[in-house]
Amino acid sequence: MANETVTITDNSTGKSIDLPIKSGTHGPRVIDIAKLQSELGMFTFDPGFMSTAACESGITFIDGDKGVLLYRGYPIEQLAEHSDFMETCYLLWYGRLPTADEKQKFDGIISHHTMVHEGLHNFYNGFRRDAHPMAITVGVVGALSAFYHDSLDIWNDRHREISAHRLIAKMPTIAAGAYRFSRGEPFAYPKNKLKYAENFLHMMFSFPTEEYQVNKVAAEALDLIFLLHADHEQNASTATVRLAGSSQANPFACMSAGVGALWGPAHGGANEAVIKMLQHIGDVKHVDKAVERAKDKNDTFRLMGFGHRVYKNYDPRAKIIRKACMDVLKELKVSDPLFDIAMKLEEIALKDPYFIEKKLYPNVDFYSGIILRAIGIPTSMFTVIFVIGRTIGWISQWNEMMTEKNLKIGRPRQLYTGPAIRDYEPVEKRK
Ligand code: CMC
Repeated sequence: MANETVTITDNSTGKSIDLPIKSGTHGPRVIDIAKLQSELGMFTFDPGFMSTAACESGITFIDGDKGVLLYRGYPIEQLAEHSDFMETCYLLWYGRLPTADEKQKFDGIISHHTMVHEGLHNFYNGFRRDAHPMAITVGVVGALSAFYHDSLDIWNDRHREISAHRLIAKMPTIAAGAYRFSRGEPFAYPKNKLKYAENFLHMMFSFPTEEYQVNKVAAEALDLIFLLHADHEQNASTATVRLAGSSQANPFACMSAGVGALWGPAHGGANEAVIKMLQHIGDVKHVDKAVERAKDKNDTFRLMGFGHRVYKNYDPRAKIIRKACMDVLKELKVSDPLFDIAMKLEEIALKDPYFIEKKLYPNVDFYSGIILRAIGIPTSMFTVIFVIGRTIGWISQWNEMMTEKNLKIGRPRQLYTGPAIRDYEPVEKRK
């Protein structure tokens, strides 16, 4: 509806202002509060951004109540069934699905950017062997800005595109390098004839001494995992990338900030935390106890892979991954006791009034770890796999922001609760 407004009145002064309401394609309307400070002298207070739309975006849409996720308008279920990760990258970056020619060309461009500068290999040697692969990834991704500064003009469309191609292409190489370094094994160079996920598996597990056959089931499962993680609107890591980018920092530095934000167990680190939790539970017979602990307010334990800030329904990605998990375990003839524990946990939690009332459902991380285990990915690499998938989302969101007409540096304010103004006391007078 045109010219809708909300009136805000400061009851202490009686002053009122009308704030415009804006509508998007889907989703709740938003109140444009930009003038609140200049006209009423007040800020809004919303820790955790519970009610705040931080930007306008045309990339990804989530309806958390209905469990809907759209990339550029396409439902995630349709993309998971008919598309692949490379095509999804094209869709997220360029805003539309590619023609057959465009798709082939894009696949070619990405595979020709997969190698990293030789000097970057030396960078790994500065880490301890027992460093977490995420620690290495944060550092190496940031270091890319020291190696690829020929295309760092953030105001140049073509430079941004080249940086995006490089990031999508090099992330699996960087990730596999982190794993190989931790094992004391030689880095495997990428092979251009392989598809994206196949190439990653080759770089993770092949040896120069032997022929390596990529397992097709594993590669397809991995491609699906990348696709399902590709973007998720303004989550913590994407918001971090945008905030870093708003200062006009280079894209590699922004991505490194995103990797750091993803690492925490409340966000991308949850996939690793789920497996650790299932291992800790140890047996189906201990599941009830784990659920009781998760409900206990005096216990910090939470069911990892459960709950979501936006989804108050089954996460649509979790539905797809759950089914894929069953298929992969069957096809690879893997029997994983952790899968039985996960199924039991889900069954009990979904019937429990605590989880029902709080609308806590399994999220994308609940089953992804079990597939990753089945295809031989070590637990410490799970969040790095998330990084590979999410890179396209981060860089597309960054690019969208960089092409805004009036890009403003992100600068939140605060409700100050520290000491009131006071005079400095010389040290001899302090008690
Ligand atoms: N187990 C037990 N209780 C939970 C859980 C859980 N996993 N998640 C939320 N709750 C409870 C929480 O204690 C709170 O109860 P109360 O209202 O009585 O204080 C209520 O549900 C709301 O939780 P919240 O922490 O205020 O909700 P949030 O939107 O700030 O947090 C979340 C969302 C994902 C951080 C949280 O659900 C969580 O910690 N889940 C486990 C970690 C996880 O699986 N993270 C992956 C998220 S999906 C992928 C991604 O984003 O990377």
